Amino acid sequence: MIERIIDLFMERFGHKPLAFRAPGRVNLIGEHTDYNNGFVMPAAINRYAYFAVKPNGQNLYRFHAFDFKKDYTTNIYQINPSKTHWANYLLGVIAQMVSDGKDIPGFDCVFGGDVPMGAGMSSSAAIESGLAFALNSMYNLGYTRMQLAHISQMAEHQYAGVNCGIMDQFASLHGKENHVLQLDCRILEYVPFELDMAKHSIILVNTGVKHSLASSEYNKRRNECQTGVEVIKQHLPVVSSLRDITLNNLNEFKLEFNDVVWNRCSYVGEENERVIAAGNALLNHDFATFGKLMYQSHYGLRDKYQVSCSELDQLVEITEELDYVVGARMMGGGFGGCTINLVKNDYIDSFVEVINSRYKTPEGQSPQIITCVIGNGAEQLT
Ligand code: GLA
Repeated sequence: MIERIIDLFMERFGHKPLAFRAPGRVNLIGEHTDYNNGFVMPAAINRYAYFAVKPNGQNLYRFHAFDFKKDYTTNIYQINPSKTHWANYLLGVIAQMVSDGKDIPGFDCVFGGDVPMGAGMSSSAAIESGLAFALNSMYNLGYTRMQLAHISQMAEHQYAGVNCGIMDQFASLHGKENHVLQLDCRILEYVPFELDMAKHSIILVNTGVKHSLASSEYNKRRNECQTGVEVIKQHLPVVSSLRDITLNNLNEFKLEFNDVVWNRCSYVGEENERVIAAGNALLNHDFATFGKLMYQSHYGLRDKYQVSCSELDQLVEITEELDYVVGARMMGGGFGGCTINLVKNDYIDSFVEVINSRYKTPEGQSPQIITCVIGNGAEQLT
């Protein structure tokens, strides 16, 4: 795809670009914990947003979206959120850098990708992180990868209206081949755990339900967690996020919570503990335990955090009867998108057959099934 993007760039703009790519991600475990300062365990995958970019010597940012065959041009002194939805992911990144005092001269850009959209695989984070990485290299801005992740996250907050955590942009920028990254979102430090894939594969099954509800429900979950923090804060003023609250604290003050908020908060506490346990299981090559933790994560997201949907639940239920699926759960923000499945390599064909025979998307189609290879984070190609 990058060759086609470079060719198109030269055709439209008549000069030779630099090329970059940034990946989408999977998350093995640790869902809805990042914005609560907790733990997550994502990995970058072999699906990317690709960029061809080059300064143009004019006061213009000129974008072409390869996948939509659409253009967007703006004066560099007039960066504002746009009605063109896709442009906001790019403009948001530039706006962050400019408000941080950086000079971002005019440039031309063709971008496109193969991370499915609305599937919970972070296609938007790949776009934000890819442009942030490209501008940082092209204009020698001196940002670290973690700073670029933060810039990309803020672009999503301010230009796309989703108050996401840092997991997706972090994974897109820090991915490491054959490793999952256990990130502590409070101190922004991470431990790479080798994922020995000799006997297992990571397979995504796309429900075909786009997570369109997700953004409003997502922001609602954040607020519910904050309400929980406020309750505990009255007793323990040092608490500033759910990360500072133990399951014991929650039980002690349970009577002061309404049921919904208590469920949200106890899910987050339990999920954080599962991420730590999952890391230990990987160190012991104990996939059986790892897989059980994935199922528990799904049940918590379904019953307590309430971000699943019937299609995701159905896909997970199908796997419960299959011994060769060691773990399965919904992945990402929820309300649609994919399930992530840890499947024994010798049974991949059977898995695909069973899923295809027992699940159809809301349009009556066979679901998209994606085997993931874990790769590196954002990089320059030429
Ligand atoms: C989305 C957000 C992430 C994270 C997940 C849920 O992918 O962008 O920051 O909160 O949902 O774990």
